[in-house]
Amino acid sequence: MAFFNSSSGGESLFRNPIALDYDYQPKLVKYREAEMKQVAAAIRPLLQKRSGRNIFIYGPSGVGKTVAVRNLLQELEQETDEIIPFYINCWKSDTSFKVLLQMCDAIGYRFTQNKRTEELFDVVKKEINKMAAVIVLDEVDKLEDADLLYNIAEDVFNKSIVLITNRKEWITELDGRVKSRLTAEMLEFRPYNLSETRGVLQHRLEFVFAQGAWEADAFEAVVQKAASMQDIRAGLYLIKEAANTTEERNSGKVNATDVAVALRKLDEFSIKKSDDLEGEERFILNIVKKNNNRRIGDIYAAYKEAGGGIAYKTFQRRIAKLEDDRFISTEKITGGSEGSTTIIKVGQEKKLTEF
Ligand SMILES: Nc1ncnc2c1ncn2[C@@H]1O[C@H](COP(=O)(O)OP(=O)(O)OP(=O)(O)O)[C@@H](O)[C@H]1O
Ligand SMILES: [Mg+2]
Repeated sequence: MAFFNSSSGGESLFRNPIALDYDYQPKLVKYREAEMKQVAAAIRPLLQKRSGRNIFIYGPSGVGKTVAVRNLLQELEQETDEIIPFYINCWKSDTSFKVLLQMCDAIGYRFTQNKRTEELFDVVKKEINKMAAVIVLDEVDKLEDADLLYNIAEDVFNKSIVLITNRKEWITELDGRVKSRLTAEMLEFRPYNLSETRGVLQHRLEFVFAQGAWEADAFEAVVQKAASMQDIRAGLYLIKEAANTTEERNSGKVNATDVAVALRKLDEFSIKKSDDLEGEERFILNIVKKNNNRRIGDIYAAYKEAGGGIAYKTFQRRIAKLEDDRFISTEKITGGSEGSTTIIKVGQEKKLTEF
């Protein structure tokens, strides 16, 4: 059987398939000029050997937070050797120690073995204090402790700290001593509207495929879905999956049926079955389902009553994780008769993570 007969497929539909990879960094970040300008303004004093400002970026998933900031770092790197750009994803490096390992790696310091967190911080601090740095901590709410933030704010001089998260509440929940030292500007990334969503996806489409590779209604179906989900990543996923289906049927034109196949896959992917959750999270989700729309304190009490054993702080972290994965949603109520609290609701969709 000739399953892999390379001569049968003809030319690939994709001209630049790499541009659909999740970590691909497009040169142009459309519709984010104002936001990028604000971040650049916070960093700019570093170029004049003064301290920069700190900035806290928040907004939902797939709205260009990471791509916009990484773009700025790239530009900065081309502009000057006097500022060290650090980009760290705290999902992957979720403790002060792991973040510092990444920072050591970025400055080319290799003698990290057997070193303690404080020693690593010392190395990084000395290096940065020779010049200046932009320190981006993406997905910062995944960081287990805020010690490093405190230390950087306190002991590193010429720097801008850029914190990125989906959860605006994270900053309000931050330890007061850290918060007051950070004094970060807040910057919201709003979802793109329909025409912006179309613009971003169109631009990528033209880069990845030859002209005429997509039927107009097929592309429009992708745009509509991505706009309704307010998530560019979902649109890129659909583009890739639909074109794969087109290739599988040896056609050179993506049509609405190919997109329909991709849409089904997206739905299966989005509604991640709760069976995939780890034990403790599934247990908590079940408690939330039985106590929908109630306050977090009540839900924690129900959890304890049902035999749950984790401490409240850890419980809060698990709730935040369930929210990130869109199993639940939360709503902050401030200034009610019993003070501030959080209401928890069973959610509909899982976050479409990197594909
Ligand atoms: N304005 C834009 N121009 C080009 N590509 C974009 C733009 N906005 C988003 N994208 C693309 O959409 C995808 C999601 O963007 P990005 O990773 O920046 O989202 P995010 O806001 O950081 O989401 P999350 O909170 O889930 O990390 C990326 O592949 C990115 O390249
Ligand atoms: Mg991101």
